[in-house]
Amino acid sequence: MQHASHERDAWGSRIGFVLAAAGSAVGLGNIWRFPYVTGQNGGAAFVVLYILFVLLIGMPVMVAEVVVGRHARRNPVGAFRRIAPKGLWYLVGFLGVATGIGILSYYSVIAGWTFGYFIKTLFGAFSRTLTPEESIEIFNRFVSHPAMSIGYLFVFLLLTTIVVMGGISSGIERWVKILMPLLLALLVILTLRSVTLEGARKGLEFYLKPDFSKIDGGAVAMALGQALFSLSLGMGAMITYGSYLGKRENIIVSAGWVCFFDTLVAVIAGFLIFPALFSMGLDPAGGPGLVFIVLPTIFPEIPLGTFFGTGFFLLLAVAALTSTISLLEVTVAYMVDEKKWRRKPAALFMSSLAFVLGIPAALSFGGVAWLSRLPRIGLGFLDLMNISLGNYSLTLGALLIAIFVGYKWGIAGVRAEVEEGGNVFFFRKIWTFLIRFICPVAIFAIFVYIVVTKNYF
Ligand code: TRP
Repeated sequence: MQHASHERDAWGSRIGFVLAAAGSAVGLGNIWRFPYVTGQNGGAAFVVLYILFVLLIGMPVMVAEVVVGRHARRNPVGAFRRIAPKGLWYLVGFLGVATGIGILSYYSVIAGWTFGYFIKTLFGAFSRTLTPEESIEIFNRFVSHPAMSIGYLFVFLLLTTIVVMGGISSGIERWVKILMPLLLALLVILTLRSVTLEGARKGLEFYLKPDFSKIDGGAVAMALGQALFSLSLGMGAMITYGSYLGKRENIIVSAGWVCFFDTLVAVIAGFLIFPALFSMGLDPAGGPGLVFIVLPTIFPEIPLGTFFGTGFFLLLAVAALTSTISLLEVTVAYMVDEKKWRRKPAALFMSSLAFVLGIPAALSFGGVAWLSRLPRIGLGFLDLMNISLGNYSLTLGALLIAIFVGYKWGIAGVRAEVEEGGNVFFFRKIWTFLIRFICPVAIFAIFVYIVVTKNYF
């Protein structure tokens, strides 16, 4: 056992990586954000554009990240250092780790709300008919309550920490093997309920009928930004998960499954949300409050509403948990590889940091007035974090990763890594073209777009 401590942890089975990476990708971005963004940007027309970006930009960047990770067998900082020992590329890794801790902090605030709403619904908070005003009131009271929002933030980070402390095969992998089937089962049951509601048809028509007149520069940037965020790209999450992937696995196939699964869940989430909304005659472009404000008004109106409502918020919480796990793991892998910390203290330290950073975010929905509307900036603290990290930093990270793999490390190195163990590099020529020419140009374009227009995604 002497050398066992020097051996790096790895996925214990073939589907370990796919489930964990799909768990990272499938999150609030798919079930909470994708439907309302689609509702605001032309329904099916937006979905088509989105899928196009997943295939042309998301998939190639995902392959790039996984290849870097598996080749270097390191966290993002160590991975860039190993492949390009001279130069400043390791800073891209640092950007990723810092972005990871930041996203973890505010993402866990919203994840905490989903958990809080799960508890609320479970105990019958939404068992009687509610007016929209009452629903708004309940939501505002909940998110502006300091002890409540900080408490749920704490609980959510605690769950995340417990899983990550367990390590790769006996922590993350063990849990995603339970949570991902649960997520899929909940998604299917709830969607079947939604599409069979009276009046569901109008929702399906709205979702499936493309409105191309809504597709403008903003919608294009939104679709690409959403694709990057939803696939967990741009900060080394896939570098980190890829670093635990066995040399015999086919990277193209594994990455393909993750992209497929993530897109499938987003598309199905549309079939869950829109019919439910239209059956109640509600506005499909309801915005971020959609799932917390609009849906609770629907539950009391359907048979077994408390059951389905509880299931829905459990679905959101599970999806969020498998994502926060990946965010924390990036930072833990960094401490373990580079700073030689043991995993457990590293997980405790990093999640404590995320907790402290998350407190102002948790207080930025009315809990503390100036955090809810920062002086001179005019945004809430959480919104500011999301714009600077979720938008700018991830886009910049994805751009630099594409350039690094396409030009600095180069195609030959990638090819050797993908073909390791006799694997076939499917779509090699197409991938090469996309990663060198299409990805950098497209990602740079939306980066400039959001800087210039301040139209965030
Ligand atoms: N992909 C997740 C979602 O859709 C969020 C997420 C988890 C993420 N890990 C990430 C985003 C890493 C970017 C990078 O909700």
